[in-house]
Amino acid sequence: MVSGLGEQLVIVSNRGPVTFSRTESGEREYSRGAGGLVTALNAVSRRQEGAVWIASAMSEEDAAVSRENVPYEVEDLRVTFVEHDPDAYSLMYNHIANPLLWFVQHGLYDLPYSPGLGDDTRRAWEEGYVTVNRNFAEATAGAIAGAESPVILLHDYQLYMVPRFLRERLVSDAFISLFVHIPWPEPDYWRVLPRYIREGVLESLLETSIVAFHTRRYARNFIETATAFLGAEGDAERGIIRHEDREIWVKAYPISIDPGEFKELASDEAVEAEEEALRNLPGQLVVRVDRMDLSKNTVRGFEAYGRMLERHPEMREQVTFLARVQPSREDVREYARYAEVVQETVDRVNKDHGTDAWKPIELAMEDNFPRSIAAYKNYDVLLVNAVRDGMNLVAKEAAVVNDRGGVLVLSENAGAYEELGEHALTVNPFDLDEQAEAIYRALTMPAGERARKARALKQAVEANTIEHWVQAQIRDIASYREGGGEKQSAAPDAL
Ligand code: G6P
Repeated sequence: MVSGLGEQLVIVSNRGPVTFSRTESGEREYSRGAGGLVTALNAVSRRQEGAVWIASAMSEEDAAVSRENVPYEVEDLRVTFVEHDPDAYSLMYNHIANPLLWFVQHGLYDLPYSPGLGDDTRRAWEEGYVTVNRNFAEATAGAIAGAESPVILLHDYQLYMVPRFLRERLVSDAFISLFVHIPWPEPDYWRVLPRYIREGVLESLLETSIVAFHTRRYARNFIETATAFLGAEGDAERGIIRHEDREIWVKAYPISIDPGEFKELASDEAVEAEEEALRNLPGQLVVRVDRMDLSKNTVRGFEAYGRMLERHPEMREQVTFLARVQPSREDVREYARYAEVVQETVDRVNKDHGTDAWKPIELAMEDNFPRSIAAYKNYDVLLVNAVRDGMNLVAKEAAVVNDRGGVLVLSENAGAYEELGEHALTVNPFDLDEQAEAIYRALTMPAGERARKARALKQAVEANTIEHWVQAQIRDIASYREGGGEKQSAAPDAL
């Protein structure tokens, strides 16, 4: 057992590390999720024998696994699925988590027009979000039954109410933390939410021992929000909140990747085969790789690229923008509409600037990991221009495998800005001209400067790997428990 992680370690996230299906011949098979969060949590789960990972059943076969009532062992993981009523899940996922919470936390609402909240919101909250969170709390309580000093690591904005429902059930000495992987905005943004959601979420989060974020800015914002709405006593310097005789640590752990794993993937045959196809694209390569999400600012990215071509006509036929956009949350109205606008924008830029021999933007709306890695290896410019982003692991993954001395154009509002900003060309994601100029500058940067920046970027990623992320949390869990979360001397480093 690893010191600090208690007798039983439970990881809880809405999307799990694997999802099951049946082959035509009726055998059970599974596919592993490749997303950054899942990969990072794998690194935590592997730390401790017997660790259990609890997630929502996403398929029929996941639900069948959940009915077997024992953790399912697959490779080095033990997975338990929670089966939700489909209507409750849809209300949670399509009406509260994405869009409402996601939109508030990424600053995506056009406030004069939306959101329009009302009784439907309350119903979606009570019958959807709360119900799903209660299911998670029940499954978690089941997983730690009888264990001494269990450690429960909750992840992300789909699970904000779980701490409260767990504390209602548990009198044990469970350690509970919740890691928020998305931005936490300033207190005033939270005023968009009805009070029962805003205060419900905050009260619940203050039932944990540690609330964690990717950046110090989000951690500070959280302390200010809890102070503003609950009258909690916050010490932003030391990263501590005191509320109803409890002490909650509020910490920043910038998530990262395993550079070794990505370097290995980069020499995979499937990736090398995909690189062949990239060689046919004309000119230098501007790349973006994201989920289809409004927070990623895909439309402005294309607009800015269009402006760059307008201002610098000599760049025509000298560059191609390869955009790999993975379909996401297609049942959420705002996302479906955004996908249409992305396509319309690409068509317009291609029509305005394209020639018979050249398509300025190649858009691929698909999820294909080897192709994305091939794009990472070959970018001359990587565009990460998010409106807001918790961290953005694409910037880190791509930097370690790129072998073209590629330049990162990075939004000031991505979590990665705190670590990588000084080695990138940084942009205000709302300023089209600034982004157009940054893309141009990156494309025309002298070779020596490009190489220096690319090297420094790689080094910055390698200096803070996923291993550091895991270790820092394990250390804090141990010192929180040693100090009972009460002693000043056990307090975390200043934010
Ligand atoms: C972000 C969130 C995760 C989420 C992922 C994919 O990274 O922080 O919680 O799992 O997006 O979104 P999805 O809705 O497909 O799970």
